[in-house]
Amino acid sequence: MRLRGRRVLLGVTGGISVYKICELVRLLKKSNIDVQVLMTEEATKFVSPETFRVLSQREVLISTFDYLEASRVEHVQLAQEADLMVIAPATANTLAKFANGIADNMLTCTFLAYKGKVVVFPSMNSNMYQHPATQRNISILKNYKNVEVMEPASGELACGVSGKGRLPEPEEICEEIIFQLSVKDFDGKKVLVTAGPTREHIDPVRFLSNPSSGKMGYAIAKAAARRGADVWLVSGPTNLKAPNRVRFINVCSAREMFEETRKIFSSVDILIMSAAVADYRPKTFSSQKIKKEETRLKVIELEKNPDIILELSKIKSHQFVVGFAAETEEVLNNAKEKMNRKKMDMIVANLATQAFQKDTNKVIIIHKDGTTRFLPEMPKEEVADEILDEISLKI
Ligand SMILES: Cc1cc2nc3c(=O)[nH]c(=O)nc-3n(C[C@H](O)[C@H](O)[C@H](O)COP(=O)(O)O)c2cc1C
Repeated sequence: MRLRGRRVLLGVTGGISVYKICELVRLLKKSNIDVQVLMTEEATKFVSPETFRVLSQREVLISTFDYLEASRVEHVQLAQEADLMVIAPATANTLAKFANGIADNMLTCTFLAYKGKVVVFPSMNSNMYQHPATQRNISILKNYKNVEVMEPASGELACGVSGKGRLPEPEEICEEIIFQLSVKDFDGKKVLVTAGPTREHIDPVRFLSNPSSGKMGYAIAKAAARRGADVWLVSGPTNLKAPNRVRFINVCSAREMFEETRKIFSSVDILIMSAAVADYRPKTFSSQKIKKEETRLKVIELEKNPDIILELSKIKSHQFVVGFAAETEEVLNNAKEKMNRKKMDMIVANLATQAFQKDTNKVIIIHKDGTTRFLPEMPKEEVADEILDEISLKI
């Protein structure tokens, strides 16, 4: 996520869900996004501008006559400097003004002056939202080339009724903003990512597995989707939420993972196998729970699972194949040997003891031509972008 210095103009209007925007500003700042908050007078009745000033570390603009610098006409200047404009929540009143070109406050003036992309999040009582006037205003806005109007969520509304009109949660709005700001260098590329552990069941309640959390693979899938790729994520059991804009396929065993990846593999450009797939499975599966008294559990006979990456490399045509090597010793040599033996184009190597379960990773990226990059320990989200950068150099 390379968003440092990217600037968002965040227009906040007078709806009950303004409280959610405090958390949104915090999340945006955490992602290194520079946020300039513009509030309507009505919005300041719900949350004080002081809260947004502290969270955004910038003065909040409300009136068209708020000049930060003597020589600037602020709404025009702001409109020239921003990478994206977001309106959340957008009241029925402000939607009507946008649709009709009314420019009677700082926010509506800036909206007209802004030529970049504007993302609007309507939020209101469901009757207000369904009203033909609001719907007409929304369809006018949808016809503006630079404006995207998001669907409100359904659920319980502040007014006590249930229906359509809820502002999405701050995390979802933040993810949409990050998506909008991300460089789309994987546009048109089809990427298949595997993640997580596999489970090899002995009986319905026992299995062989490993401590993979899936965080690395999910981070790669998320980053690829943000960068414009069409992404499939085939995942073993994890506690993670499926990333947005990703086709998510849940599997359990290595054989299921093989089946699902094989089905998709022929139609993708890039395969990134970050799953920690079990090499072996129990030879027999007991459909009933094996009782403590039984002797069978004393010895579990194993048989080999399919080597997914090796099998897919055999049938690969144009695909760029990336594998992972989680080693406990001789990381570089073992990873190179694995890459060559399994005919990968690139391998990401790490110390298994440093990678599992953690939010950070320290990896070595090795290309088949021998080019090698040693990366310092960094958050898995950043490792994901580094991996995609290396792939983009070769495809
Ligand atoms: C308690 C309360 C909650 C409100 N919530 C909303 C809302 O969620 N959505 C909306 O469109 N209007 C809501 N309104 C009405 C707006 O505040 C009103 O239309 C106002 O003029 C909007 O001004 P603005 O668009 O300049 O911010 C609410 C009003 C009150 C008093």
